[in-house]
Amino acid sequence: MISVSQSTSEQLSPVDGRALRTVCGNFATGVTVITSGSAENAAGATVNSFTSVSVDPPLVLICLHENSRLLPVVQESGGFVVNFLTHQQEPVAWAFAGRQTARIEEVPHHMSAGDMPVLSEALAYLECRLVTEYDGGDHAILLGEVVALGAPAKKEDPLIFFQGSMRELGRESALQR
Ligand SMILES: Cc1cc2nc3c(=O)[nH]c(=O)nc-3n(C[C@H](O)[C@H](O)[C@H](O)COP(=O)(O)O)c2cc1C
Repeated sequence: MISVSQSTSEQLSPVDGRALRTVCGNFATGVTVITSGSAENAAGATVNSFTSVSVDPPLVLICLHENSRLLPVVQESGGFVVNFLTHQQEPVAWAFAGRQTARIEEVPHHMSAGDMPVLSEALAYLECRLVTEYDGGDHAILLGEVVALGAPAKKEDPLIFFQGSMRELGRESALQR
């Protein structure tokens, strides 16, 4: 049996927010920077709530906090770009995660055909049209239809977020599928 550490001992409802974050931190994710807007409205935020939802139609989702500065930019522009970060982009991840997030001009980027910022050094990107927004408690759940995509940095490893830290991929599994 796997034991639960004392700092996050078993809890019944109502669940403490800090404990929830700590326990969810055991789910390793990739790291994205969501970009949106154009010209002086262009903005970005670091997000790991990305999920691939549907292939046909091509749908993905992200969750943005209700106080997110990026949220009104996405709502106004009607779309967003999911930029998957490489392991070399940890400084970019932290730069877009602070109280004062970085400006798009500070990182190498280009504008997509749909006039949204794409981080040029990202592992891959998905350009999305905002389809629907759902209530997700203190977050908004944004469903996007993928309208363009690319993988410019194929040889790079991804950036990983696990237990509050950024990491690189470890060993590959020896098991064959
Ligand atoms: C690894 C990591 C993942 C994050 N994931 C999310 C997320 O999924 N949704 C969210 O709203 N904030 C997330 N954040 C926090 C935002 O990056 C942070 O609040 C940022 O300041 C938001 O910028 P904004 O207010 O300009 O939108 C994450 C931060 C880190 C470091």
